[in-house]
Amino acid sequence: MTRDEMLQLFPELNEIKDRALRELSVDAFLLAFDRGGWNAENIAMAPVTLNWDCSCNLVEHIRKVTQACMAQFDLLEKFYKANGVVFERDIVVSGALLHDLGKFTEFALKDGKVAHSDNSFLMRHPLAGAIMAAETGLPDKIVHLIATHSFEGDKSNQTAESYFVRTIDDFVFKCTVFGLRKKG
Ligand SMILES: [Fe+2]
Repeated sequence: MTRDEMLQLFPELNEIKDRALRELSVDAFLLAFDRGGWNAENIAMAPVTLNWDCSCNLVEHIRKVTQACMAQFDLLEKFYKANGVVFERDIVVSGALLHDLGKFTEFALKDGKVAHSDNSFLMRHPLAGAIMAAETGLPDKIVHLIATHSFEGDKSNQTAESYFVRTIDDFVFKCTVFGLRKKG
């Protein structure tokens, strides 16, 4: 994948105002794709989960979470600030884009089919993603957000940005796996 292809796949990267953070976010995707064996041809097969039926793929999930975060942030930014919540939009956008970075190595193609990668038990995506983000040189706020966005963060400190992305990710995820409908 080239940088341009990555920007086309995730156009929300252009919403990151800080140039250095935007470039590092692209670098992190390139590293994760390379390590997980994903490219322009096979990326549509990357799954959100193998444990549930899900109505979208990983790229669509990441983009939907990011779009939901931006819409919510922009709508209520004044309210958050009035209540003293310290929030950086760039951290929200970069963090939302990269929160599932580790899924590109948690899942892999084996004989043309999606499967858990060989080290997925040891390196669930919050851990794998946080490590790749740190390797890339992303700021600690992004590394923290990735590391704590799932149940790994249950007893962790949370920044406003990490709690925000975690909450919206959870809602978007449940919409696509459960449809938020009662059974029967
Ligand atoms: Fe997610």
